[in-house]
Amino acid sequence: MYSEKVMDHFSNPRNVGEIEDADGVGQVGNSKCGDIMKMYLKIEDNIVVDAKFKTFGCGAAVATSSMATELVKGKTVEEAMNITNKAVAEALDGLPPAKMHCSNLAEEAIAAALTDYRKRNGLVDSNEGGDCTGECSCCHHSHGREENFEDEE
Ligand code: FES
Repeated sequence: MYSEKVMDHFSNPRNVGEIEDADGVGQVGNSKCGDIMKMYLKIEDNIVVDAKFKTFGCGAAVATSSMATELVKGKTVEEAMNITNKAVAEALDGLPPAKMHCSNLAEEAIAAALTDYRKRNGLVDSNEGGDCTGECSCCHHSHGREENFEDEE
């Protein structure tokens, strides 16, 4: 059911943990299952030089996040913004259709971390997305949700 690459990244996930002095941090929740992903990015001269993640998620979420952190390293911020969950799933030789939604977590957590970086550096209008309350769940953002790794620890 799962490819060898999925099993490899699930069994030996790369880049698990956090970056203390991260330049961008993003946390998202998956509205379908309630799982959570937190992504940390270190960015120098517009290049993602390091990425780490923590998740309260399923095996497919672990594998896709592991692969996503590998893919994002060395990319420019713009290139990283364009990494899709489909690209991550393809890099893993595919995911079962029922688990494709799990790969959204990685894509969205990277996007959230990049947005955080761009906001911190004045590269984005701070009002962009400012009306979002997270209540519609359509974009899976976790604004206003209570889950937070820091709170749990
Ligand atoms: Fe929740 Fe996979 S079942 S991320």
